[in-house]
Amino acid sequence: MERPVTVILAIETSCDETSAAVVINGQDVRANVISSQVDIHARYGGIVPEVASRQHVLQIDPVIRKALADAQVAFSDLSAIAVTVGPGLAGALLVGVNAAKGLAAATDLPLIGVNHLEAHVYSNWLEGQPPSFPFICLIASGGHTDLLLVKGHDDYQMLGRTRDDAAGEAFDKIARVLGLGYPGGPAIQRVAESATEPRPLPRAWLKGSHDFSFSGLKTAALHLAQDLGLHPPPDQSSNLSSLPRDPGSETANVAAGFQEAVIDVLVEKSLLAAKKTGAGSIALAGGVAANKPLRERLLGRSSVPVHIPAPVLCTDNAAMVAACAHFKLVQGKRPTTMAVDVSPSLSFA
Ligand code: KG4
Ligand code: ZN
Repeated sequence: MERPVTVILAIETSCDETSAAVVINGQDVRANVISSQVDIHARYGGIVPEVASRQHVLQIDPVIRKALADAQVAFSDLSAIAVTVGPGLAGALLVGVNAAKGLAAATDLPLIGVNHLEAHVYSNWLEGQPPSFPFICLIASGGHTDLLLVKGHDDYQMLGRTRDDAAGEAFDKIARVLGLGYPGGPAIQRVAESATEPRPLPRAWLKGSHDFSFSGLKTAALHLAQDLGLHPPPDQSSNLSSLPRDPGSETANVAAGFQEAVIDVLVEKSLLAAKKTGAGSIALAGGVAANKPLRERLLGRSSVPVHIPAPVLCTDNAAMVAACAHFKLVQGKRPTTMAVDVSPSLSFA
């Protein structure tokens, strides 16, 4: 085998997943360990930042050790340590950044600070043929909905972004309205499968703009759920919770109507952006890109090639951070200094 150009250990702790990965040459994933806190936060109906930080502290060490063991590499085999510096939860980011700084100092390896959103774009490098430039990338996650023209490595043009809620945030909020728990995206997708008659809900097209808006849809879904008696969901501790509250599968119909409206806008705006810019392909990224009907719709509607990472690479993971860091390293970007701090609201493009 040819000598690898880079072997990168990456760390990701921006939200509620503690992850460490080892990736060779930005594409060959040797280990991608993800310790999810979903079950813990589900008890509270959403992410509790303080709880997330504490869990990262508990998990970071074993997760890094497991990544190195899975990849069968030692620190002496590594070219760099990469870490997400933002955007994300301050306390959560701090755990990863401090761990990475400590490792870089102890091993004398370069430290590469990575923007979490840019890392999501690079999840498209981790399997099969990467997209060729220029391409459209839709990043749809819990905190962002960004439509980008990716012209080259480190060469992005922001075409549009959400003006209010992110797509994932809207999924999470409507799941809570319907009493489906956290995280909302997978719950809505699952329940929507049994819809008999999806309820029509509005789409904000914002004609002439590549921006998105989901707050009107969210309010319309809330009002519909209230009108149908689905919200507020029954108190789990009450005796009434054993009564059938939704005999006509209306929860599924509202969930399906909501999901359909989000998908419609995400797909049509991505297609329009590709047409307007002449981009040769469309890539998806971010947790919402794990949504099966969204993936199927884009694949069915697009006349240009579509790139969609496997669901586990769409949601937060450190392999995408390593891929992003690889291209920074081979392009000769200067390593991040030890003075680097977390950037909870780091912007992109
Ligand atoms: O990228 P990600 O893992 O974390 C952030 O950077 O925010 O995205 C998490 C978001 C959550 O809002 C979650 O509900 C959503 O992605 N999500 C989904 C699906 N899986 C995760 N949304 C729709 N359908 C899914 N299957
Ligand atoms: Zn993310």
